[in-house]
Amino acid sequence: MTAPEETAVVPASDEELAAAGTECAFVRICRAGQVPEGYVRRFYAETEHGQMELAVARVDGKAYATSNYCTHLDCLLSSGKLQDDGIRCSCHNSVFDLQTGEPIQPPATEPIRTYPVREEDGQVLVGLTERDVVEGGPRRRKPPSM
Ligand code: FES
Repeated sequence: MTAPEETAVVPASDEELAAAGTECAFVRICRAGQVPEGYVRRFYAETEHGQMELAVARVDGKAYATSNYCTHLDCLLSSGKLQDDGIRCSCHNSVFDLQTGEPIQPPATEPIRTYPVREEDGQVLVGLTERDVVEGGPRRRKPPSM
């Protein structure tokens, strides 16, 4: 058995970012039931501009979508825990506000990205622009489906 293939992080160039569109489209991410109250999970958005990894959480019945990598040392936020005021990274306990992405407990000092979420017909949809996908493209490739 081989480990899942990982994708190197290659930041988008200034030219690529400047050319990327900023029109937001809502993309289906998962069923609402896949994000139970008090949990955060990793999902992959499949967009016409490419694949994007997200952390999707639910607190007080409301779903939130953020980037999946802590701005301190890149740990997965989908491996973290939710608390009243945000999402706590499991590596060194930074806490980020789920609504704004701002760090509310160190050591992280930079915000994570947050994305608008809609729930319709039992589905969770996240608003993403082409620029979001170019900037936050795949960090770890989605495992092949069995
Ligand atoms: S990597 Fe998240 S707090 Fe250090």
